[in-house]
Amino acid sequence: MEPGLRRLVVVSNRLPAALKNEGGEWTVKPGAGGLVTALAPVLRDRGGIWIGWSGASDPTVDVDGLLGSFSAKAGYELRTVQLTEEEVRGYYFGFSNEVIWPLFHDLQTRCHFDPGYWRTYLDVNFKFAEQVARHTGKEDYVWVHDYHLMHQAFFLKSMGVKRNTGFFLHIPFPTPDIFMKLPWRWKIIQALIEFDMVGFQTTQDRDNFVRCVRHFIPECTTEGDGAVVTVRTGSREFRAGAFPISIDFNQFANLATREDIVQKTFKLREALKHRKIILGVDRLDYTKGIPERILAIRTLLKRFPELTGRVNFVQVAVPSREDVEEYKDLRDEIDLLVGRVNGEFSFPGWVPVHYHYRNLQREDLVAYYAAADIALVTPLRDGMNLVAKEYCACNASESGVLILSEFAGAAAQMQDYAYLVNPYDLEGVARAVNRAFHWDKVDRRRMMVGLRDHVRSHNIFWWVDSFLQASFSTNLGDFPPVDT
Ligand code: ADP
Ligand code: G6P
Repeated sequence: MEPGLRRLVVVSNRLPAALKNEGGEWTVKPGAGGLVTALAPVLRDRGGIWIGWSGASDPTVDVDGLLGSFSAKAGYELRTVQLTEEEVRGYYFGFSNEVIWPLFHDLQTRCHFDPGYWRTYLDVNFKFAEQVARHTGKEDYVWVHDYHLMHQAFFLKSMGVKRNTGFFLHIPFPTPDIFMKLPWRWKIIQALIEFDMVGFQTTQDRDNFVRCVRHFIPECTTEGDGAVVTVRTGSREFRAGAFPISIDFNQFANLATREDIVQKTFKLREALKHRKIILGVDRLDYTKGIPERILAIRTLLKRFPELTGRVNFVQVAVPSREDVEEYKDLRDEIDLLVGRVNGEFSFPGWVPVHYHYRNLQREDLVAYYAAADIALVTPLRDGMNLVAKEYCACNASESGVLILSEFAGAAAQMQDYAYLVNPYDLEGVARAVNRAFHWDKVDRRRMMVGLRDHVRSHNIFWWVDSFLQASFSTNLGDFPPVDT
């Protein structure tokens, strides 16, 4: 760790290593998902502690032993919060994934507002806060991540533990009319305003939050007109800012040009007979708009029959939250749709949709990105969407086209160089793909160069610096503007 830097303590639901039980044996696996992808390289470089849930709820497992070697290799300390099966059900699957996740993604009809979930959410948040209090000192900066742990600053304060705290919400913050549906809305606002810094992906999310605070505390004022504002509520003063998260651009870009991956990429293209590849990569989640995307491909083949046999849509979906009913149903729905579209359009030697339901190794993922002519990133709603950025970083040929949902946080940053679409507008998405298919090479290069330049300079290190600088500066004038 560099001298003079305050120790950083990251608190998140998941540790960057997850314990998995495979055939009765516990093993350590690097975690999947945007949060882990984003923070692991940062803590490796700065040093510090990461506090989180190990992913195991079996009390007989030697969690510390298993994580010890991972921790030594990672170059920072890991501290676990042990959760029982019941706690995991109520706090993680229940409140986090069946209440906050759908509500904050504007999908309130998918919410299950179970009061039991709420109580367990509070209990588990208290348990986390106890661990934070135990393993940190006054000088540490405690950076809490995501919707699972919104009560950390509130509980630290209630225990009389003074810490400098920041919170970053990786998912969208909804508009007041949607947020107000939450039975525990005031409690959540009360908890969030106890952080010294509350960070969001976009200025729109930040403004939604401030509007919700104002609803409950009408005398609340804001000062500043940049990415970060100071909010005063009478009893509290804190900052709220927009910090669009990003990726380790160089890591992806370097992998994409490594000889073995270039070979992999070529083999992929060869296997698909050098037809144009349209790629979708997502966690299997109903916010990602996968069924709508498959239907848009169907619309494409119907409206533009000349593309039949000339494109392949490759959808890679990583299994996610499989214990939640909605996710099981989604998996079945996608299986059915893939079968239906392939049944309708395939002919000997050509199948339009290639669907892979699995976690890919980083090398294979990069090869898919590098091989794809068009990335179809069409979430119905998304905090940021790192896949859009990873695709650009891997597009070393600078000839790919990014088709991006206007409802992804990434659209706020990438709108000048991506082809923005409404994911619900199947005809619109089909037209965008058709245009991208025929797009002139010079135009494609111009757009991709613009995208790559942006992601290269606004990378994960820039994101962390922005958040920490804004959190530590005493004067907002010291803080360089963040462009969103
Ligand atoms: P979310 O955080 O909602 O999952 P993001 O697009 O921001 O969405 O991040 C998804 C992360 O998961 C990316 O870093 C991406 O590389 C990774 N990922 C997605 N699909 C796969 C897959 N099939 N195999 C491996 N990694 C995947
Ligand atoms: C999103 C959330 C993260 C979460 C990830 C994977 O990126 O913002 O907090 O870790 O999805 O989801 P999971 O439920 O498997 O942790």
